[in-house]
Amino acid sequence: MSCQLRPASEADIQAICDLVNGYAAQNLMLPRTPAQVRHALGDFLVAAAAGRVLGCGYLAALGPDLVEIRSLAVAPDRQGDGIGGLLVETLVQAARARGIKYVCALTLAPEFFARHGFTRVDRWSISPKLWGECVYCPKFHACDEIAMLKVLDS
Ligand SMILES: CC(C)(COP(=O)(O)OP(=O)(O)OC[C@H]1O[C@@H](n2cnc3c(N)ncnc32)[C@H](O)[C@@H]1OP(=O)(O)O)[C@@H](O)C(=O)NCCC(=O)NCCS
Repeated sequence: MSCQLRPASEADIQAICDLVNGYAAQNLMLPRTPAQVRHALGDFLVAAAAGRVLGCGYLAALGPDLVEIRSLAVAPDRQGDGIGGLLVETLVQAARARGIKYVCALTLAPEFFARHGFTRVDRWSISPKLWGECVYCPKFHACDEIAMLKVLDS
């Protein structure tokens, strides 16, 4: 895996949207607009090589103790190279450094997160996510995403 992880910048916004929205079109994740990405830009990490964005993801704060990994995606031609794992581990490490206790993800790839120490939980155990966002989602009553949670050691 020859790529570098770095904070996202303004110049990455379109590439992040293209990556995420390609999977959103397949119903694998939620879409993001450039405005949404710009709003969260300070929290986004990208994996890049030779000027190309190969992967992305960010931590969204849901409460004082809880963050969510969002918009985690790796380019189709670079999957299986360890980039997604590196993004998850780096985001978890960033949460740990901030003294966060819980990292969650709502995902259609639970086995991938399980490899990184996440366990499946009832979605109501991450209720700030549900009350803060999911209730506004058109898929709320037919959500097929699985809640995964990792408890960080203090
Ligand atoms: C999920 C995703 C981020 C993983 O990134 P990646 O760079 O391919 O992951 P890694 O190379 O670190 O790990 C690959 C391993 O995870 C497994 N894996 C990847 N995607 C998986 C999925 N959807 N379900 C279960 N396991 C998955 C692979 O089988 C592989 O296992 P192996 O090493 O035994 O072959 C990437 O496949 C992706 O972008 N998928 C589409 C978007 C998506 O589903 N994002 C997650 C939304 S929260």
